[in-house]
Amino acid sequence: MKAIIGIDVGTSGTKTALFDCGGALVASYTGEYPMAQPKNGWAEQDPRDWWAATARGLNEVISEAKSKMGDVEIAGVGLSGQMHGLVMLGSDGEVLRPSIIWCDQRTENEVAQMNKVIGREKLIAVTANPAMTGFTAAKILWVQNNEPDIYAKCAHILLPKDYIRYMLTGEFATEVSDAAGMQLMDIPARDWSDEILGLLHIDRGLLAEMHESPDVTGRVHARAAQETGLPEGVIVVGGAGDNPAAAVGTGVVSEGSAFTTLGSSAVVYAVSDTVKIDMEGRVHTLCASAPGKWTVMSCTQGAGISLKWLRDTCCLPEVLESEKQGVDPYVVMDRLADGVAPGSDRLIFLPYMMGERSPHPDPDCRGVFFGLSAMHGRPQLIRSVMEGVAFSQLECVEVFREMGVPVDDMAITGGGSKSRLWSQMLADLYGCPVSGMQSGEGAALGAALLAAVGAGIYSTVQEACAAVVKRGDSLAPNAEKSEAYAPYFELYKKLYWNMKNDFSALSKL
Ligand code: XUL
Repeated sequence: MKAIIGIDVGTSGTKTALFDCGGALVASYTGEYPMAQPKNGWAEQDPRDWWAATARGLNEVISEAKSKMGDVEIAGVGLSGQMHGLVMLGSDGEVLRPSIIWCDQRTENEVAQMNKVIGREKLIAVTANPAMTGFTAAKILWVQNNEPDIYAKCAHILLPKDYIRYMLTGEFATEVSDAAGMQLMDIPARDWSDEILGLLHIDRGLLAEMHESPDVTGRVHARAAQETGLPEGVIVVGGAGDNPAAAVGTGVVSEGSAFTTLGSSAVVYAVSDTVKIDMEGRVHTLCASAPGKWTVMSCTQGAGISLKWLRDTCCLPEVLESEKQGVDPYVVMDRLADGVAPGSDRLIFLPYMMGERSPHPDPDCRGVFFGLSAMHGRPQLIRSVMEGVAFSQLECVEVFREMGVPVDDMAITGGGSKSRLWSQMLADLYGCPVSGMQSGEGAALGAALLAAVGAGIYSTVQEACAAVVKRGDSLAPNAEKSEAYAPYFELYKKLYWNMKNDFSALSKL
């Protein structure tokens, strides 16, 4: 059997998935690891944990596939991963410090520095976004400013999945969809911007070689072959950031299509033939993984992160019950939430547990339960967290619609898409059908399909998606529920603005 492999370096774990060339899943393995939060608003991971999880995952899926299918010929590997993270390596290829990952918000001063030295207008004209605390450029400046000894030793700057590429092939390479989230690219030109690099005193030699997502970037070397079970010489393609990879996995590769990811973060992603920019920076403009396309994308930082926090801090009874029933704790939590009416008995959650990016680029805001009453229990808390995340998606979709980016047919993916309740909430709020996918693999499938294009099995990303990606059930919006949510959503939108200054005051205490 000819196989393709997708590796998705996520925040809670790395998923390695082996598919046949028609996109049917043969074997999958997820290795988990922790996220450290050394200070309020900081978030770090050890790149070596990502590699250990990847090496284990590859061994597991290859041996499972061989035991199921006999002879397995691996045609290519595609990489996907959490975006915006900063990996710094010394000249010997060793990791110099923990990775400062996507949801870290320590770079308020560096954002001010970028605005000063580059200027907001130029930043938007070249990088298609105003300076963002979560994007990689500000994180690089933070290390320049706060850890000059480490910066002096730094020989290579990589994104999370590109570190895995280095470990597999020895190549320092990246691709446009993930690199666009570093804020060091000329987005219309789809290459590094020498002008921005010069103004920020970042040597271009530190950065990886730029490719399009389906390009072959290297081949698995002997040491990696030994550690992973991959045959030496297998091609590794550019791949994509986790959201642009999920775009391929959900078939969102042409203008007019969109999807929502409910993962650690929540993302709404739409494809465009031209570069469309929101001057207020409420949503991001990046290169899409489909060559020659761009994307408008929003990111709610604390989506699955908020529900996981609630599970880990308050939902021990549900965790224990789930163990008894042999199901995931979220299944039990979901059932409780389903018993509560829209509006969570007048409880509203603001999902700003990790600060926020879309539609409020604000590192200082934090999570809020608004309207807590002694009558509320875990069912209301769970439902209001799900509703708060869903309200945030609608607030972003309103920006898309204002920009003339159509959102009237939405696919859904990510761990949270397993919840029918959460998916239905999105359909009710967006006022458009929301369809699940037949494959739940999203980003890993997208990365594998990019490998299939790189291996020549399909000639374009669009052709691969048309052959492989199939939508699942479509949920229609329920007008009665949409109406019930409306006054809560209006109040939800006001709360951020009412508290904005107080969030800032809190951050200074
Ligand atoms: C997107 C973003 C997140 C991470 C999470 O801009 O920061 O979706 O990619 O994995």
